[in-house]
Amino acid sequence: MKTRITELFGIQHPVLQGGMHFVGFAELAAAVSNAGGLGTITGLTQKSPSDLANEIAKCKTLTDKPFAVNLTFLPGFAKPDYPGYIKAIIEGGVKIVETAGRSPEEYMPMLKEAGIKVIHKCTSVRHALKAEKIGCDAVSVDGFECGGHPGEDDIPNMILLPRAAQELTIPFVASGGIGNAQQLVAALALGAEGINMGTRFIATKEAPVHQNVKDAIVAASELDTQLIMRPLRNTERVLKNANVQKIVDIEQEKGMNTKIEDIIPYVAGVYPKVMTDGDMDAGAWSCGMVAGLIKDVPSCDALIGEMMVEAKEIIENRLAKFAN
Ligand SMILES: Cc1cc2nc3c(=O)[nH]c(=O)nc-3n(C[C@H](O)[C@H](O)[C@H](O)COP(=O)(O)O)c2cc1C
Repeated sequence: MKTRITELFGIQHPVLQGGMHFVGFAELAAAVSNAGGLGTITGLTQKSPSDLANEIAKCKTLTDKPFAVNLTFLPGFAKPDYPGYIKAIIEGGVKIVETAGRSPEEYMPMLKEAGIKVIHKCTSVRHALKAEKIGCDAVSVDGFECGGHPGEDDIPNMILLPRAAQELTIPFVASGGIGNAQQLVAALALGAEGINMGTRFIATKEAPVHQNVKDAIVAASELDTQLIMRPLRNTERVLKNANVQKIVDIEQEKGMNTKIEDIIPYVAGVYPKVMTDGDMDAGAWSCGMVAGLIKDVPSCDALIGEMMVEAKEIIENRLAKFAN
C-alpha cells in the first residue's frame, strides 16, 4: 500500500510502532521494520547517549530497513541530555525521529540540518498544527483511546482524526486504540495515511518483554485500563492492577491536591519490574483499550502481513460493495 507516509519513510506498509519505554529495544524495532513497517527504538530507555548508540548499532545488525528513534520530552525536573541523544541518532545514521511529550521546536534545527525526518506525536489538533508550523514532516495523532499519555482533552479518534484531516497539510498517522485491519481501513477513511500502534506490538513474539506482560494484554478486556495522574495534568492510561488501585484511592482521597510525591512509589522505577521481571502488580505501566481486541501473540511479520492482506480485502470487497 502506498501513502504519503510510506513514501516519506521509505517503507512498504503504513504501519508504525510507537516508542515504548522498556519495550522499544532493537529486537522489536528490527522485527517491525523487517516486516515492512517502521520500528522504533525508545531513546530514553537507554540510560545514556552512548547506550543509545550501541542499541542503534545493534538494530543495524538485525535489519537493513529504515527504523526510527523515539525522543520523549518529559515533563518535570530531570532534563535528559537531549543534544547528546540526538548526536547519537545522527552519528548512528538514523534518519527518522518520533518526538513526543512536548514540542520538539528547540531541537528542530539540529534534526533538520542532519536531514532527519521528524514525526511528532500529539493528542490535539492545535499541537499538530504547531508541529506542522515548526517543520515536522508528519504527525502521529494520538486519540483518547491510546495507551500512554492521551493528554487532557479526551477527544477520541473518531473525532480527532477527521478534525486533523480538516486542518493539516502534512500527512498524519492515526495512533491509539488500533490493533487490526478494520481499524487500519477506518483510519484511512478518516484521513490518516497510516497507523501507529503501541499496545498491539507488545503482544508479539519479538517484543522483548516478560511473557506475563503479553499474557496480561491478551487476558485484558477493553474495560481494564485506568486513567491516572489527571490531577497532575499528566494523565496516563495504564492497565489496572493492585498498585494502580492504590493510586486511584489516593487520587480519590486527595482530589486536585494530589502531588507526585503521594503516588511516586507506584509510578517510579516500575517499567523494568513489569517488563523485565514480569511483576504485574509493581505499579503503573501504559496500556491501551485496544487490549480488549488482542487475542493472540503473533510474530510482527504475521501481524503486519495479515493486516495488510485483510485491509485490502475490506477495501476491495466489503467497502466496494457499498459504492454501488
Ligand atoms: C508500555 C508503553 C510504553 C510507552 N512508552 C512511550 C514512550 O516512552 N514515549 C512515547 O512517546 N510514547 C510511549 N507510549 C505510547 C506509544 O508510543 C503509542 O503512542 C501508544 O501506545 C498508542 O496507543 P495504543 O497503545 O492504543 O496503540 C507507550 C505506550 C505503551 C503501551
